[in-house]
Amino acid sequence: MTINDKQLQHYRDHGYVIIENFLTPTELSKARDEVEDFIPGWLDYTANPRLPKPLNWDETPRSRRQMRFPFKGEQLNAVTLHPEMRRLASLMVGHDDLFCEQSDLTYKCKGHYADQDQPMHLDYVNHTLVYPPKDPSYWQTAFLVYYTDVDLHQAPTAVCSWQHYHDEILWPAAYTKEDRPGLYDAEVKVTVPAGSLLAYSMRTFHRGTRFLEEAARVGHFITYAPSAYRWLGILGWPEQGVYKSFSEWMSRATPAERELIGFPQPGDPYWTSETLAGVAARYPEMDLGPYT
Ligand SMILES: [Fe+2]
Repeated sequence: MTINDKQLQHYRDHGYVIIENFLTPTELSKARDEVEDFIPGWLDYTANPRLPKPLNWDETPRSRRQMRFPFKGEQLNAVTLHPEMRRLASLMVGHDDLFCEQSDLTYKCKGHYADQDQPMHLDYVNHTLVYPPKDPSYWQTAFLVYYTDVDLHQAPTAVCSWQHYHDEILWPAAYTKEDRPGLYDAEVKVTVPAGSLLAYSMRTFHRGTRFLEEAARVGHFITYAPSAYRWLGILGWPEQGVYKSFSEWMSRATPAERELIGFPQPGDPYWTSETLAGVAARYPEMDLGPYT
């Protein structure tokens, strides 16, 4: 379906938007056929959790590399490159020069390793080497497409409008409920029918929640980024950003060494008082003198 102006405005105002029934019935049904081929049994189990769980449901995590684009078949790949998702991301960033930096299938059930009450977090730690500024020309847009219904007991994503934290340097990038209960009090649970879409930004706090009963959920993470900036994208070095060893290396490296893995050079227009403060917060040991 077409994303309407009210939905686009909601994204601008809140840093996310929920679009129910985004996929057409045909797109959804074709995507589900491919999901069934990829992870047999999961959709039947989702429809009827009294059935035994799918074979190897609790196998050790598969690598992201086995779960990502390109998929066998056509529809999951077509969803990855959906023109309406591209249009939303283009409108936010102000041009159409984008690259798709992520397309990962995600599935979990009660008791699965991914069945967790996540802390409220921002996704930028493994989507950029630096910090996501307020300037929209740097905006990455993340999408979560749901291939199964998501009710309250089916581990809905929770998301918190950026109106609650828009004017601060966004570090730390995660908070427990004890540390910052306000983010949790203001969260919205994304309960939607299969075929729906959540769009959110790298500046938008959100979290996965636990299953409350026997159930499963299948979805698809897709992210677009402006193509001009080599420090963006989960497929490159930013993917390592969640590891302490990576931050330690980044902090020790010289500007020339950092530049070789895609970090913005001294003098790049990326550097502003905001991004200097954001990167200093993220990498407190880094000498930012050369970038000032
Ligand atoms: Fe996340």
